[in-house]
Amino acid sequence: MSGARTPLLEVEHASRNFGGVVALRDVSFQVFPDEVVGLIGPNGAGKTTLFNLISGLLPLSGGDIRLQGQSLSQLRPDQICARGAVRTFQAASLLGNMTVWDNVHVASLFRGNGGRAGPSAAACTADALRLCEIEHLADMAAEQVTVGDQKRIEIARAVASGPRLLMTDEILAGLNPTDGAQILEILRKVRRQGISIIFVEHDMRSVMSLSDRVVVIAQGLKIADGPPSEVARSPEVISVYLGGRYAQGV
Ligand SMILES: Nc1ncnc2c1ncn2[C@@H]1O[C@H](COP(=O)(O)OP(=O)(O)OP(=O)(O)O)[C@@H](O)[C@H]1O
Ligand SMILES: [Mg+2]
Repeated sequence: MSGARTPLLEVEHASRNFGGVVALRDVSFQVFPDEVVGLIGPNGAGKTTLFNLISGLLPLSGGDIRLQGQSLSQLRPDQICARGAVRTFQAASLLGNMTVWDNVHVASLFRGNGGRAGPSAAACTADALRLCEIEHLADMAAEQVTVGDQKRIEIARAVASGPRLLMTDEILAGLNPTDGAQILEILRKVRRQGISIIFVEHDMRSVMSLSDRVVVIAQGLKIADGPPSEVARSPEVISVYLGGRYAQGV
């Protein structure tokens, strides 16, 4: 069990308001090393806002977020990335007219190595392309590849920055089942490299198969946190989110 281990990420009483809208209200959870946490909830629940808070794109209205015991609240996004928390974006974030190699190479320049010598940016780029099975696309412009390959580039960019924690925001959206299954396999490989993952996704079958634990938020509040099978049976979770999805046979 994860109880005695030191958490990688600690979200403590995190809150975020947008004017009068409370997007997140006093949300607390932890992510442990080597763990995949599925983060689910209805549209507008606050999932992307939580990623924006962890990655430093938005300041907290209240609470704290710590990575390896260190508060992230005063750090810039590039400093948070260098400390090992990286995310993919719900909308495409690739530099379309640059090559696939350059897109990933740019990200590798942000990796943190604590001042120690480490592999070169080029070596990290090559490793990330191999892990994501897109070496053959290295010289193509990013805008010329398929949607599935764009998602692989997104993951490669994140991996090239040397993360301890990868946050994926609806990485499977718009993909056909074959591409979706391949992305899940790549995420399993990422995890086997010792990288923890927070996996935001609406496709329940994928969430349940990839996640060690599932956190559910609705209207900015955490309503469940536990093993996938337990969360899937929670009457509150079924009523606010899963009901329709289970009716579809997931
Ligand atoms: N920059 C912003 N300015 C104002 N309101 C915002 C902003 N970002 C998010 N919100 C509001 O915060 C709430 C949470 O939005 P968020 O995008 O985090 O939800 P989500 O769980 O990611 O939803 P989805 O599943 O549709 O992606 C919503 O009510 C949204 O309208
Ligand atoms: Mg979102």
